[in-house]
This record gives sequence, C-alpha cells and structure tokens, in this order.
Amino acid sequence: MNRILICGCNGLLGQRLSAQLSVRTELEVLNTSTERDFVFSDRPYDYTQLDITRRSDVRSLVSSFQPTIIINAAAATNVDWCETNREDAWKVNVMGVENLAEAARRSGSRLIHISTDYVFDGRSGPYDEAAQPNPLSYYGKTKLASENAVRTANIPHAIIRTIILYGTGIRVKPSFPIWVINSLRDGTRIRVVDDQWGNPTHVADLANSIIRVCESGTTGLFHAAGSESLNRYDFALRIADVFRLDGALVDRIPSSSLNQPAPRPMISGLLTKDTETRLGIRFMNVTEGLMLLKHELQQFTRN
Ligand SMILES: NC(=O)c1ccc[n+]([C@@H]2O[C@H](COP(=O)([O-])OP(=O)(O)OC[C@H]3O[C@@H](n4cnc5c(N)ncnc54)[C@H](OP(=O)(O)O)[C@@H]3O)[C@@H](O)[C@H]2O)c1
Repeated sequence: MNRILICGCNGLLGQRLSAQLSVRTELEVLNTSTERDFVFSDRPYDYTQLDITRRSDVRSLVSSFQPTIIINAAAATNVDWCETNREDAWKVNVMGVENLAEAARRSGSRLIHISTDYVFDGRSGPYDEAAQPNPLSYYGKTKLASENAVRTANIPHAIIRTIILYGTGIRVKPSFPIWVINSLRDGTRIRVVDDQWGNPTHVADLANSIIRVCESGTTGLFHAAGSESLNRYDFALRIADVFRLDGALVDRIPSSSLNQPAPRPMISGLLTKDTETRLGIRFMNVTEGLMLLKHELQQFTRN
C-alpha cells in the first residue's frame, strides 16, 4: 500500500478517507473530484480534478499516477434523482466505474469500490454477503451493475457495501441524523417513516474498513455497517435522546405517505459478522456511532 488514488474526495466518505489517508507519510495520496476546489484546500494534500465519466481523463491520470490502489468513493447517491435521471445516473454509477476498472487493469492497480444495501429488495433483510441481490430502484440497479463491472473486470478488487451512512463533512448533503438534529434544535416538527429498517453506519466505520482492506490486501465482497438494526423513526428517537432534543417533535408515518419517486427496500440491513471476522474489526452500535457524531460536531463548531 503506497500510492492511493481517491475518487469522489469531496463527498461524505471521500472527505473521511482523504483526511485519514493523506496524513500518512508512508503513502502518496492523490485526491480527486469533479469540482475545481478541494474541500481541504487549506491542507497540504495533493488534489486534482477528475470526472470519472471522462474515460480518457481517467486513463491518462491513472497511467501517469500509477496507483497501487484506486478507491472509488464517487457516485450519484441521490436515490430519487437517479430514478428520474436514469441516463446520467448510469453514466456516473456504471460507466464511471467501468472507466476506473479498465484503467486499473492497464496499470495493475487494485480497485476498491463502494456499494449499497439498495442492491437488495428489502423483503427479507438483513442480508449477508451471499444473499441474492434484487434491486427495486434505478439507483440500486446502477449500483448492482457497478458491482458486476468490477467483478468481471479481471482485476484485484474489493466491493464494500454499506447502508444509511452518516457523519460530518464540509458542504456535504446533510445525512439523516444531521437533518434530525438541525430540525429538532430549531423546534421543527418532522415526519419520519417507521417501516424502513436498516443498520445506520457511521462513516468512520466504513472508512476504517476500507483502510483495513487496503492494508491487508484482501479481496472480495464485504458488508460494512453499524451493528444495530432499527427503523428510521426509532433511529430519530435515539438521535433525540443522545443529543438531548425533544423526541415528541418526531411524528411516525408510513413510507407510502411520502410518495417518493424511487421504491426503497423496507426490511433491509446488512449482516456484518463475516466482514468483521475477515477484517478483524468491530462495528459501532447506534449509541456509540451517535456519541462519536456528537463529539465530532462539537469539534466542528469549535474549529
Ligand atoms: N450515503 C448513504 O447513505 C449511502 C448508503 C449506502 C451506500 N452508499 C455508497 O457509499 C459511497 C459514498 O457515498 P457518500 O455518502 O459519501 O456520497 P456523497 O457524499 O454523495 O459523495 C459522492 C461524491 O461523488 C462525487 N461525484 C459524483 N459524480 C462524479 C463523477 N462523475 N466523478 C467524480 N466524482 C463524482 C459527488 O460530487 P457532486 O456532489 O459534485 O456530484 C460527491 O462528492 C457511494 O458509493 C454510495 O453509493 C452511501
């Protein structure tokens, strides 16, 4: 593990990986994203613009940097946007990944790619790594196609699925707990579905799994997710509890009342035992994850 290319470094996961890996002096890390500016432009990290959908750009950057490992944290992650912007979603989530896989093959790099529980239909979760995918949404379809693109590319690779990712980041779309905290702090009533289940995952756990995969050289399919499964309404109440906010402002609703363009897996969740054993790590439960978030938010406002 010595030369690492991070794609999508301005996203929630990408920022975490950049911050953790760029400070390691034994590594040469090149951070990339579509934007002109890097969110950590005040830090001495290497950064260049890269849109993963631009095949020739991907090819030439990978060929000149010769990464040992490419980590793909880039994706179109707005599930409803993907449902209604199918061509663009496919371009980023599938063709972008094909470009990375092809470039990895040419340069002999290992590719670490991130996927989602949305590859499952949510009829009988939680799912282990051997479970049969059956995506309901277009986003889920693109992510399954991206997994297949990596799997069939004949390159050393790891695919790491995660679920309900949250954490802090600069200029990222607020994750579910941040939305709940901000709303309740403002005294705003919120409506939260009580029929979608999954295990919320602090981005630190996902980033640490990716780094363990990098360090160990291990390949294959992994599930990186928090150790506790619950529905979104109960998650909102746990957030209120940890952050000492008024849980009475949270109203429970069924998913059907939201009229979201993309169907969601309802009884989802990722089983992680096999991944935890293979990587020698233990994922946080809901309280541990939220306590870490609380600590990080305090640091964030202090800086
Ligand atoms: N968030 C979740 O709850 C969740 C759950 C399960 C799995 N995942 C997976 O986890 C991974 C990381 O998610 P995240 O939450 O960190 O997402 P995120 O915050 O939306 O970050 C994704 C990043 O990719 C960038 N990107 C989009 N198109 C690109 C392109 N063509 N070339 C280069 N970069 C591009 C985005 O930039 P722009 O913002 O400028 O488009 C964004 O900075 C994704 O693979 C996602 O599918 C996420």
